Amino acid sequence: DLKEVLSANWEAPSNIALVKYWGKHEVQLPANPSISFTLSKSKTITNVTAKKTDHGFTVLYDGKEKSDFAPKIKAYFQRVKDYCPWLTHYHFTIDTHNTFPHSSGIASSASSMAALSSCLMDMESQHSGKPIDFEKTSFLARLGSGSASRSIKGEVVVWGSHAQFDSSNDYYGIDVSDILHENFKGYQDVILLVDKGKKTVSSTAGHELMNGHAFAKARFQQAHDNITQLKEILEAGDQEAFIKIVESEALTLHAMMMTSHPYYILMRPNTLAIIEEIWKFRKETDVPVCFTLDAGANVHMLYPKNHKDQVDKLINSKLAQYCENEQYICDEIGNGAKSL
Ligand code: PMV
Repeated sequence: DLKEVLSANWEAPSNIALVKYWGKHEVQLPANPSISFTLSKSKTITNVTAKKTDHGFTVLYDGKEKSDFAPKIKAYFQRVKDYCPWLTHYHFTIDTHNTFPHSSGIASSASSMAALSSCLMDMESQHSGKPIDFEKTSFLARLGSGSASRSIKGEVVVWGSHAQFDSSNDYYGIDVSDILHENFKGYQDVILLVDKGKKTVSSTAGHELMNGHAFAKARFQQAHDNITQLKEILEAGDQEAFIKIVESEALTLHAMMMTSHPYYILMRPNTLAIIEEIWKFRKETDVPVCFTLDAGANVHMLYPKNHKDQVDKLINSKLAQYCENEQYICDEIGNGAKSL
């Protein structure tokens, strides 16, 4: 018994991987497990209205029709409908916008796919009368973008089967926030926007490069080992050890791209300048600040909140000048998707 009209309104955040997902097989199944901090301010807000009629969808960005999102959404619906057969009876109007600048070089795929999947699962619960199934929400989000599975629930999320996390699996992310020591609560993430242009390599093409990569096997094993270590580090509150794993993961991700065929350098000179400033600052002040990177030139700077004043000074005096139009985003650990 399907309702004539359904609607849902959700926001979902981006996330930053500490141990990176890079390489996939079949339908968005990861070659190795990954673990991330959920963000709070960098998010997508999505309103979906569904009318019972022929199946289809219209995508709007901030109320204006946006046809270039259509192919991704179409592929997503194609995958999702096997798990949500009811949606073939509806036309969806999807109105979405991001809190971060549209072309900031920040991937919106994690937050946007998490927000859209949350709306669909909200609608499914309106039909069934059952509570929203967050595992299935993460499962659907994964079908849109692998890392989106880590943007649904919890401050720290593991996606992909790993020996140290009992219910971890390749199909959806699990909330492991209970491992977080007091020292890591409220961690800050400043996203320094070195290059706001479109990515040179799409993440789909990037994952593809790990097929037949000379170092693939060693890299996938290393990700398992790094998660084992990071679990202990997050439990013990060891910020020095955290820095070593997180920075090494970022450089390894980029090393994989530099050593694939074709090969890419996704850092820019200003990426390196920022990394050097962070290292210098850490040496001089002993503030446990570190960097991580995703598959682009922007730098994420992670640090404990009690050092905010000192780090703000570092940004203003040194780091902002290396950012495009001096733009950066101050974010922090958050909790996941919310109904509005
Ligand atoms: O979810 P995708 O396919 O856009 O891949 C994301 C890959 C990285 O951001 C580079 C790493 C990660 O784990 O988020």
